[in-house]
This record gives sequence, C-alpha cells and structure tokens, in this order.
Amino acid sequence: MKEFRDTSAELLDFIRRSPSVFHVVANMEELLKKAGFQKLQETEIWEIFPGGRYYVTRNESALIAFAVPEKPDHFQVTAAHSDSPTFRLKDRPEMGRCCHYVQLDVEKYGGAILAPWLDRPLSVAGRAIVDTDSGVESRLIHFDRDLCLIPNLAIHMNRRINEGYAYSVQNDMLPLFGDESADGKLEEMVAEQAGAPKDKVLASDLFLYSRVPGSIWGAGEEYISSGKLDDLQSAWGCLQGLIRSENPASSAVCVCAIFDNEEVGSRTKQGADSTFLEDTLKRIILSGGGKSEDYLRMCAGSFMISADNAHAVHPLHAEKADPVSQPFMNEGPVVKYSANQKYTTDAVSGAVFRKICRSVNVPCQTFYNHSDVPGGSTLGNISTSHVSMNTVDIGLPQLAMHSPYETAGVKDTEYLIRAVKAFYQANVICRDGAVEIMMS
Ligand code: CO
Repeated sequence: MKEFRDTSAELLDFIRRSPSVFHVVANMEELLKKAGFQKLQETEIWEIFPGGRYYVTRNESALIAFAVPEKPDHFQVTAAHSDSPTFRLKDRPEMGRCCHYVQLDVEKYGGAILAPWLDRPLSVAGRAIVDTDSGVESRLIHFDRDLCLIPNLAIHMNRRINEGYAYSVQNDMLPLFGDESADGKLEEMVAEQAGAPKDKVLASDLFLYSRVPGSIWGAGEEYISSGKLDDLQSAWGCLQGLIRSENPASSAVCVCAIFDNEEVGSRTKQGADSTFLEDTLKRIILSGGGKSEDYLRMCAGSFMISADNAHAVHPLHAEKADPVSQPFMNEGPVVKYSANQKYTTDAVSGAVFRKICRSVNVPCQTFYNHSDVPGGSTLGNISTSHVSMNTVDIGLPQLAMHSPYETAGVKDTEYLIRAVKAFYQANVICRDGAVEIMMS
C-alpha cells in the first residue's frame, strides 16, 4: 500500500505545482530533463540518434516526449491532456460593480461544475507576454497565495438555492479580488512577476485555480482528491511510464503526447485535432533519413493508448452507470467502449491493452456509458483522424469529473504507470487481424 500512496502523493505534489497548463508543461520538462531527455525546437533541424530520448513543446502548453530505439519499426504512443475546466480572466479584468468591491471579469473554460468553485480560496496563474527589444516573450505567472474568492449568496437571500440554481457565469461567477483599493492591482502584480514595467505587458493568458490542497483520505486512505485529476492523473502517469521504462521496446519509438485544449474541443495548434503528433512522428523518421513510405509503413504497425480519466460508479447514483460494467476506484484502469466510436476501442485494441495489464498483474475494468446517458468525448478518435493507428481509449475511474475537487483511487495512479511502462517495454506490432506482442 505504501508504494501506491507514495506515487499518489507525488502526483498531488505535481498538481499543486502546476496551477495552469503552462506550469504543467514546464514541470513535465523538468522531469524529462532530469531523466536525460533532450529538448528539440520545432523551428530547428532535428538530429535524432538511435538510443536518444527527446521532447518537443508547442505553445508551452502541449508536449511530446519520445525515446528512439536502434532500429525503429513502428510507434507506441500514449496520449493524455494537460488542460482542465477553469475560468479565464478577460483582458483588464478588474471591475467595480459596487463601489467598495473590485471583482475579476472571467469567462468559463470547458465544462466546469460551477457550484463547487464558490466559497473557497482561489488564485490566478498562467503566462504574460512581455514587449522586448527584439519582439515579445512569454513569462510564467503564478500568485502562490489565496487571492480571490466567489462568495455565495446567503440562504436568507436565496431561500430556494437547495432546489437547484441556474448559475450565470457573467453574474454569479466573478471572483471578489479586493476592496476599492484593489483597482489596477492585478496589472501591477502581473507586471512585477513578469519582471517588466506595466506598459511592457502586452497580453496574458491567465486562469483561476482552486487553492484547496490535494488530499489522501478515507478509512484506509484509499482515495485521493484534488483539482485537475482529469486529466493530470493520466497525463503524469503516462509520462512516468515513459521515464521509468528502463528497457524500452527494441523496435518501437516510444512516444508520450500531452495535448492542450481537450476540454474545449481540441481544435487548436496545440490540441489533439492539430498536426502536432503527425508532424513530430514524421520528423522522427524523415530526419533520420527515412522516407514517407517508411513513415506510413510504421504508422500502420503502430499502437496508441489514449488515456483520459473515466467515471467510477457514484456511491449515491449507481443508476447513472451501466448496469453491468461498473468501474470502481482502486480496481485499475478502465477500457472505454462506445458503439458509435466516441471511444476508439475495438476488440483488437481492447485485447492488446488487457494482455499488457495482465502481464504485470494490473487489474483492468470495462466502461460503457449507460445507454441513455450520452458520455463525453476524448482524444483518441480526434487524434486518429490525423495519425491513424490501432488505438485503445482508457482512463482511471474517478468521481465528480470537472469539479475543482475531484476524487480518484489512491492505487490507480501506480496501476496506470505499471501498465504504461509494460507497454513501452514490450514490442507491440500491429498487422491487420493480429498483433505481435513481445514482452521484455
Ligand atoms: Co479529460
């Protein structure tokens, strides 16, 4: 149990240090550098050597890391996402609705559950773009203290709050930032952190985040709770799987792709619906002297695990889950199926993932949506429309998805890492109708 707990504690520490997508990627870069991965720039000519470990970032909010074998023959890819539902600050967000208060003007990012954002300490993180002599430059911004809060209306002023309430983002969700003296302060604080005078900060991408610290809890400490478990539990787990694989597959380029903007449809240059993965995989082959034919041949033999957190059966609302396939926390990753192929899993890719889990004694569950409940979408089928390969959609079961405080199983982080590590250490070579799996 201690190993499971330690891994989840490490994940919670990573999330605490990653209050925005830009911090997620910066912290992933740190982990990769420590593990001997070398940074490549998309704008430069790549020199890829057999046995080398590399990574590349896009928009500072998406990242692809990969390890190249002596004789690459196919790709083995994991994919997850860096973003989570939140609120984005509008430009010059300070507004005084009522003379003694200054609020921040925000808009919603992704499908957030709104109510739990109220009455808890919040802060702001992201990036600011600074005017320099040679152009503009990005600087990370993080106010690491309780900075603002969205207060509820007292029950005396809204007697019907517990009968359901339709929140207006523009009217109900603006955080209180301070008294009237706070007007103009945020701009000053951003400039100070960016290390530039106020008039040199040209623009920013700033987001709210919840300050409630992550926790390991339950009678047997079996649960973890924190913001952003969807999808940082899976993203961090996939990256750890790559970093920890000591004997990577002898013929696979092992790839871990972390995309941004999954929560808003993936259609950005750094999202799964971009050319980021395709460009990167192509360049790995072309820069090593391979031809387009080699790239296409390799893709055809490749396999992808698309990892995005999934719904565990809710303790009070089991009726929302499929009556047969009921995923529980701490019982391993789920394989997601959807007849309409919202999830890419088919019999072949599901079988491959199950076999890999079985090889390292990781339990594995099955997820279907309740047939009358439309589920969410994810990365697998979007990514597949750019780089088509055998793909399985999986995820770690959790509760309260898209709340700023989600709950998952303490054991499942480690289960995912073990499964992903086993995947990277095996050679998984796809042929039509058969998949060769050679465990190391
Ligand atoms: Co997700």
